Amino acid sequence: MALINDNYLKLKAGYLFPEIGRRVKAFAEANPQAKVIRLGIGDVTRPLPPVILKAFHDAVDDLSRVDTFAGYGPEQGYDWLIDAVIEKSYKPLGVSLRTNEVFISDGSKCDCANILDIFALDNRVAIGDPVYPVYNDTNVMIGRTGDADEKGYYQGIVYLPCTEANHFIPSLPSEKADIIYLCFPNNPTGAVATREELKKWVDYALANNAVIFFDAAYEAFITDPSIPHSIYEVEGARRCAIEFRSFSKTAGFTGVRCGLVVIPEELTGATAAGEPYSLNRLWLRRTTTKFNGASYPVQRAAAAVYTDEGWRQTKEVIDYYMENARIIREGLAAAGLTVYGGVNAPYIWLKTPNGLTSWDFFDRLLTECHVVGTPGSGFGPSGEGFFRLSAFGNRENVEEAVDRIRKNLK
Ligand code: MLT
Repeated sequence: MALINDNYLKLKAGYLFPEIGRRVKAFAEANPQAKVIRLGIGDVTRPLPPVILKAFHDAVDDLSRVDTFAGYGPEQGYDWLIDAVIEKSYKPLGVSLRTNEVFISDGSKCDCANILDIFALDNRVAIGDPVYPVYNDTNVMIGRTGDADEKGYYQGIVYLPCTEANHFIPSLPSEKADIIYLCFPNNPTGAVATREELKKWVDYALANNAVIFFDAAYEAFITDPSIPHSIYEVEGARRCAIEFRSFSKTAGFTGVRCGLVVIPEELTGATAAGEPYSLNRLWLRRTTTKFNGASYPVQRAAAAVYTDEGWRQTKEVIDYYMENARIIREGLAAAGLTVYGGVNAPYIWLKTPNGLTSWDFFDRLLTECHVVGTPGSGFGPSGEGFFRLSAFGNRENVEEAVDRIRKNLK
């Protein structure tokens, strides 16, 4: 009999968002008259901006003609997209990247998971708590951890609590970590890191020969000009950080699928013999072996984000979502709830009222207000007592959800 990967059996429950979907479906079936408003998973609702859509359509048409047909592209992405990313997204930050340092993919979730392929299992990994569940669960799946304790902490992972007391910014680990996941603007808390904060992490990583996985999926939602959009804005980060970016929330690509990974040439890990080895080279080897590239029309659509008009239209959509964030944040604060995030991030992180657990609040919100959010405890034990609302809904729904919460949750 074929043996399974037993590490999967260590996982506590189903993945968070399908579990929420299951509960909402059961509620909707039992209450067909209820108009359920979904502010749970961070899934976008605005259509693709016209310039991007046109580029997408045109690229599909390219496939219909012999002279413009595109088959396999470069596994790591087309240069015309990579160079547009570097020029429009990194250069204005004062960050210089080479074409071979950027890898285009079919989304950041896969990248955050797949990156583990090129690191040995006996690395010590540090992650925030609460955290985007992919970081934790993929380390469990790959076999880097022992079992979870009764709270949900897995043996072998260093958890960095992000609490009200530390403004949801983790402290440096007290034990040595080799790989550190940082996500700013943060999913789920909406917290952002200043340059000084990021420098602390870069200094730690350089001093400990650690690698930072910097998830910048929400950088486009930063409104405060002093907050860095990329870890490479910090001196020394090229020698210790891998950055992940996504078109999902930035440009409405949750259903289209496109992301990118940056691995600077000078970033190295160590072989078992202690010799430095290029992580860029390893990732290229992995990518060319296991991936045939994001699809041609998707990459053409992604490149259109960086045209002047595409950039403007994309920004308009981001502003729309950030106005939603303001409506939720201010509306709930006016209703007496304690709210965080929603200023430089599309997530609002609220404290559950009357000491309710996150899942009890989820049930209450669903049954009394017909509004779906995400229980904070689903992101890790330190998320207990908190709740996340996404700003990616349409305006009418967001306003109605806030109104219902205000009226019902007194
Ligand atoms: C979330 O709601 O946390 C995100 O949409 C999940 C994701 O990006 O995979």
